[in-house]
Amino acid sequence: MKIVKTIEEVRRQTAEWRKQGLTVGLVPTMGYLHEGHASLIDRSVKENDRTVVSDFVNPMQFGPHEDLQSYPRDIEHDAALVQEHGADLIFHPEPEEMYNEGFSSFVDMTVLTNELCGLSRPVHFRGVCTVVTKLFNIVQPDNAYFGKKDAQQLAVIKHMAEDLNMNLNIIGCPIIRESDGLAKSSRNTYLTPEERKAALVLSKSIFLGEQMVKEGETDCSEIIAAMQKMIADEPLARIDYVKIVDCKTMQQIPVLNRPALCAIAVYIGKTRLIDNFFTEDIDKEAE
Ligand code: PAJ
Repeated sequence: MKIVKTIEEVRRQTAEWRKQGLTVGLVPTMGYLHEGHASLIDRSVKENDRTVVSDFVNPMQFGPHEDLQSYPRDIEHDAALVQEHGADLIFHPEPEEMYNEGFSSFVDMTVLTNELCGLSRPVHFRGVCTVVTKLFNIVQPDNAYFGKKDAQQLAVIKHMAEDLNMNLNIIGCPIIRESDGLAKSSRNTYLTPEERKAALVLSKSIFLGEQMVKEGETDCSEIIAAMQKMIADEPLARIDYVKIVDCKTMQQIPVLNRPALCAIAVYIGKTRLIDNFFTEDIDKEAE
């Protein structure tokens, strides 16, 4: 397993693999890897001859008052995890390697990004789309793997790949949770022990909403109100949003009459966490 820091070297390696007729999977990450990331790597290793994991805290997707400086980093730990899970190469560039002086081209998207996290984080998806496009162009993978934990990001990338005729498959993978239900996230490390307990309110409210849907509730405002009430009862929690949207367009819907995504963003102290559930299996729907 190699750690590669330059675009040129990744290109050389992946070109060689393609010449040998091998398929290549890509798992884009910002590092500080946990079992959520590992599940994407496992899937890619299973489905491709070679797997590249990118490990890059992308400055472009952080807003001016967000946590770019404090975002956790540990390349040695990441390298051990990637090796253990059988991937072949980590691409770990410096910011200057990805964004040289004079960098001025961006990939942006409308509609899907005018909701949910796109509202609270105005520059976020432009940064994500731009860096993911660059990674696709550098690695040229057959398949790229993204978590449903970041459901809007997955929808945005699927849409971008389709709109711009990118020649690869985008594969969504299930949310991996801690044993008590909290969705795994690199940002969970920001939580104090007291906040860590309070953060359980995210998954609890997700499970509540999911249960209501299972029991036949179709009025989105009822589901949202019940989830909001549960979150409001936790003193350390502050709601950014609790919304139900069409799972393709990301636009809000009043009634559950089509495949939908229920997504939440909640501040626990200063840490903003997200979680979600789909009302139907979107992969089945996409096939
Ligand atoms: P990052 O937050 O490191 O996440 C990398 C990938 O891991 C994403 O596809 C994310 O959805 C997935 N992931 C994170 N936690 C997960 C969990 N608990 N279960 C399943 N999958 C999980 O998302 C990004 O980085 C960046 O925006 C990136 C796409 C790399 C672009 O910079």
